[in-house]
Amino acid sequence: MGYKIAIDGPAGAGKSTIAKKVAGQLGFIYVDTGAMYRAMALFLMNENIDPEDTEGINAKCKEADITIRYENGEQVVYLNKENVNGMIRTQQVSNMASHTSANPNVRKKLVELQQKLAADTDVVMDGRDIGTCVLPDAEVKIFLTASSRVRAERRYKELLAKGEECDIDVIEKEIALRDHQDMTREISPLKPADDAVFVDSSYMTIEEVADMIIDMVEKKTGKKV
Ligand code: DC
Repeated sequence: MGYKIAIDGPAGAGKSTIAKKVAGQLGFIYVDTGAMYRAMALFLMNENIDPEDTEGINAKCKEADITIRYENGEQVVYLNKENVNGMIRTQQVSNMASHTSANPNVRKKLVELQQKLAADTDVVMDGRDIGTCVLPDAEVKIFLTASSRVRAERRYKELLAKGEECDIDVIEKEIALRDHQDMTREISPLKPADDAVFVDSSYMTIEEVADMIIDMVEKKTGKKV
């Protein structure tokens, strides 16, 4: 079966950094499900599908062949056999993904793929619906959040480091809008699983959060990492 750790929460809470670190320390596979929704959004953008065009999304999403491979310990996302890691982190793709991830056909396809990836392996998976929907039997479930200002500051620093011009207030507004879209959508809205541990990372370091999760795993399994 494998041991499963589910980390859910809004954008910018630090999920992927922490999930990657925990997976590395435990020797588990890390699956970034957001990257899969981003690859699908990129595909639909390239096909000139409007984010509001439900019929178009329903028809086209079937043609996207999204796979994940691990190369030198890094997750690489392939879209129709092309490595798209370098193309899925733009603001445009973020905005498209926020719309297209609400589509039931998109979710069904990607959830099945995620469940297959996690079958029979020890895995740390992050996303929005991992504890509630993808891996409801996960041994450890974390709902990781941080205030919208702190999340905007983190994103602002990332973009500055990449040399991109940006405005922190605009970023914060976009984050709030995405939170709203993700939390109010009909299918698999972002919400903590009943048995998730709620962690506010606003004033915690990456190491503190990762250590906390490792601690939980050690207590549950009775084994030292
Ligand atoms: O975590 P991220 O920013 O890379 O996610 C991109 C988008 O995909 C975001 O709008 C939320 C959505 N998503 C989702 O609906 N379900 C998941 N399991 C992961 C991401």
